[in-house]
Amino acid sequence: MSVRVIKPTLNELPAYVDALHRGWGPDNTRVKASADEQLERIKRDPIAFVNSLDDPDGKGPPVTLPDGSRVQRLPGFNRWIWDGAFCGSINFRWQSGGAELPPHVLGHIGYSVVPWKQGRGCATQALKLLLPECRAQGLAYVELTTDPDNIPSQKVITSNGGKMIERFTKAAAYGGKEALRWRIDL
Ligand SMILES: CC(C)(COP(=O)(O)OP(=O)(O)OC[C@H]1O[C@@H](n2cnc3c(N)ncnc32)[C@H](O)[C@@H]1OP(=O)(O)O)[C@@H](O)C(=O)NCCC(=O)NCCS
Repeated sequence: MSVRVIKPTLNELPAYVDALHRGWGPDNTRVKASADEQLERIKRDPIAFVNSLDDPDGKGPPVTLPDGSRVQRLPGFNRWIWDGAFCGSINFRWQSGGAELPPHVLGHIGYSVVPWKQGRGCATQALKLLLPECRAQGLAYVELTTDPDNIPSQKVITSNGGKMIERFTKAAAYGGKEALRWRIDL
């Protein structure tokens, strides 16, 4: 199966809304909460919602962490993984001036594939397609984090040249559990 990563537009929004209604959510640390929040925002102003997904200047509202705390948004953008239908989302955020990230940001890239499209190579291909866009921001590498038992996500990273660099303890706002940090040189 071959996928594209597309800049979200109103044309694809109904497919995205359908995935949110089916229980998928873009933030895998807060699946239901992130889906409910987004459905509410889409109902209120669909155009503003779609526009907010492309935010290279980090002008959007603060980001809510799993413990409910809110932190300043970094520059970033979301892309939708698309095979003719909605497959999932992948996002990239960065800090201007280098590849360093604040400690509360769990990696430059996050992704989530809808359950009914998993295991078909969507995330592996989407990450491969996103990396040139990361390089274009001038970063020398990107970091990603996974839970120690998230083997599918680890395979997505290693298939794209990623290496595990450390085991660390997530910030208290994420529950303080163990996680793995990965790096892909660009
Ligand atoms: C992690 C995730 C994005 C992977 O998406 P995907 O499109 O299914 O991934 P791929 O099809 O590209 O598969 C990647 C590898 O994982 C394997 N895999 C996928 N689903 C699997 C499963 N349920 N059990 C075991 N292996 C699985 C694939 O076989 C593939 O392995 P290979 O490279 O040896 O062939 C998806 O499972 C997901 O959205 N999970 C919930 C959110 C999440 O965990 N996001 C990442 C946070 S770090």
